[in-house]
Amino acid sequence: MDVMIESQPILPLRAWNAVRTRGTSYAWHKVLRRVLRHTPAWRRHLLYADPRSYWTHRGGFDYFREQEGQPARSWRADWIAERIASYNPTSILEVGCGYGKILSELSRRVCVPLVGIDFSPTQLELAARLINPQAGVSLVLARGEQLPFPDGAFDMVVTSAVILHNRPDIAQTMRREILRVARRFAVHNEETGFSYNRYGYDTVAWYRERGITLAEFGAIPADPNPEESQFCVAVLDPRTLDSSPT
Ligand SMILES: C[S@@+](CC[C@H](N)C(=O)[O-])C[C@H]1O[C@@H](n2cnc3c(N)ncnc32)[C@H](O)[C@@H]1O
Repeated sequence: MDVMIESQPILPLRAWNAVRTRGTSYAWHKVLRRVLRHTPAWRRHLLYADPRSYWTHRGGFDYFREQEGQPARSWRADWIAERIASYNPTSILEVGCGYGKILSELSRRVCVPLVGIDFSPTQLELAARLINPQAGVSLVLARGEQLPFPDGAFDMVVTSAVILHNRPDIAQTMRREILRVARRFAVHNEETGFSYNRYGYDTVAWYRERGITLAEFGAIPADPNPEESQFCVAVLDPRTLDSSPT
C-alpha cells in the first residue's frame, strides 16, 4: 500500500478536530485511550468491553496512520501476502480485513475473487477508499463469528491479527466459522502475546489438537515482535498438498 502520512497538528487542535469531525463519543474514547495507557486492566474494562465499538472508534485514519507509520508492519504484510500467494488459492476471504492492507497486497499478487469482512464500519469505509477499485475486492460489514457465507464458499480464509482480539468463546466460534466456509486452506497470522485488547492464542496448538495438517507454521521473520508472532497454514483438504505451495 503506497501512502503519504501527513504531519499532525498540535494536541488542542487535534482534540477540537476530533469532536467536530467524529463527535464526542469518539473524542472521549481517544482521551480514555491516552489517559489509561499505563493501566491495562482499566483499559480493557473501560475501552475493550465491546470490541466492535472499540474498533469503530479506533478504526479509520487513526489506526491507519499508526500502522503506516511503522515500516515493519508493511514488511510483514508483504511477507504474509507472498506466502498466501504461493498456495495458488482460487478465492480468498479475509476475516477482519481492517483498512485492507493485506487485501491490497494480495490484489497485486493473485488474480482471484477477494472478499474482506470486518465488523467495524470505520475500518471498512477506509478500506473502500484505499483499495484500488480495479482490484475488484468485495467488502462486507459482518462479524467473524457469524460469517454470512455458505459452507465451503472460499478456497482459502485468512485472518491477520483478528482472532486474538476476541475473548475465548468468540474466538472459538470464529475458528469454527472459518473452517465451515473454507474449502482448502485456513491461514493465520495471530500473535500469542497478551495486552488490554489482545487475548493471545496458540493457533498452531489449536489445529494440532484437532489433528488438522499444517503445511507450515512458525514466527514471521518480518514481524516487529517476532517472538510473539505466529503464522500458520492449515490444510483442510490434504490432497491439495500435491499442488502447493509453489
Ligand atoms: C489489528 S486489525 C488487523 C487488520 C488487518 N487484518 C491487517 O492485518 O491489517 C484487527 C481488525 O479485526 C477486526 N475484527 C476484530 N474482531 C472481529 C470480529 N469478531 N469480526 C469482524 N472483525 C473483527 C477489527 O475491526 C479490525 O479491523
